[in-house]
Amino acid sequence: MDNRTAKFHLRAFSRYKNLQLLIFSLVLVMYLICVSGNMFIFAIVCRTSYLHTPMYYFLCNLTVLDIIYVSVILPKLMVMTITGDISISFPGCFAQLFFYVFCIGTEFFILASMAYDRYVAICTPLHYMLVINPQTCLTLSVFSFSLGLINALMYPLLISRVSFGNFNEINHFFCHMKSILNLRPTETRSIDLLITVDGIALGFSTFFLILISYLFIIATILKIQTSSGRVKAFSSCSSHLTVVLLFCLTSLTLNMKPENESSQERDKILSMLYIVVVPLLNPIVYSLRNKEVLRAIKKNIFLNYSDLDL
Ligand SMILES: *[C@@H]1O[C@H](CO)[C@@H](O)[C@H](O)[C@H]1NC(C)=O
Repeated sequence: MDNRTAKFHLRAFSRYKNLQLLIFSLVLVMYLICVSGNMFIFAIVCRTSYLHTPMYYFLCNLTVLDIIYVSVILPKLMVMTITGDISISFPGCFAQLFFYVFCIGTEFFILASMAYDRYVAICTPLHYMLVINPQTCLTLSVFSFSLGLINALMYPLLISRVSFGNFNEINHFFCHMKSILNLRPTETRSIDLLITVDGIALGFSTFFLILISYLFIIATILKIQTSSGRVKAFSSCSSHLTVVLLFCLTSLTLNMKPENESSQERDKILSMLYIVVVPLLNPIVYSLRNKEVLRAIKKNIFLNYSDLDL
């Protein structure tokens, strides 16, 4: 089969014939919330000078990645549900696969960079200015994006070598690696093994680094004499810790879990939740739990009101 003209079919939620309009509306609403939530946090950080610190620059990196990755998946899903045309070209499929892996992978590295930032800030506060300078941040950020990029390039390359013949109906709502490999489970066993190892190496190693940073952080916080000092130190990393735990645990369980026929329908719905929930984590956690961001939001709204008064 000629790869350039060939197509995959994404079965998505097409078996729920009567619910297409409902599904479309739900996806549209969720997409708009994801994008606007992330743009909101990005704008708040940009507009607030006291949020111009490494931690919040990294947060901006995360919001950009979140917007990219919902945008390669959800608009296509909306078009498919509303038009009933469930086909996706090979390049389109590879693009989805690439951006999804790129964004998730890079987010792991950025989260690890944030953990390092918190580690230096809390465990060696006197060296903070020296160690975490704009140069280091840029390096960490470029490093994260490059590793994410190289890792993600591997996925479409691996898939493009497999000949799918007539097996082209993917039981998922986007080109998810495991679901594509499921089309030819016996031929692709070695690729399956390779990406499982890659996922473990990437996901668990960054998770492990984050965990170690936090062990040091917690040990340091426990040594602080005053309870107000302890609360202050902990609150400077609690938002990050919340996001890390939610992000790593959900993405490791859902992306690494072996797929099989019987659980596919359920997995699809779980992935839907995950695709939508994960990009919302940063905006929600950071706007509800983080005092600095909360103060910035209030200040921005307050400023807008005073503009009106003038
Ligand atoms: C990403 O993070 C780096 C380093 O903190 C920062 O210089 C850059 O402006 C950020 N980029 C975006 C798009 O948020």
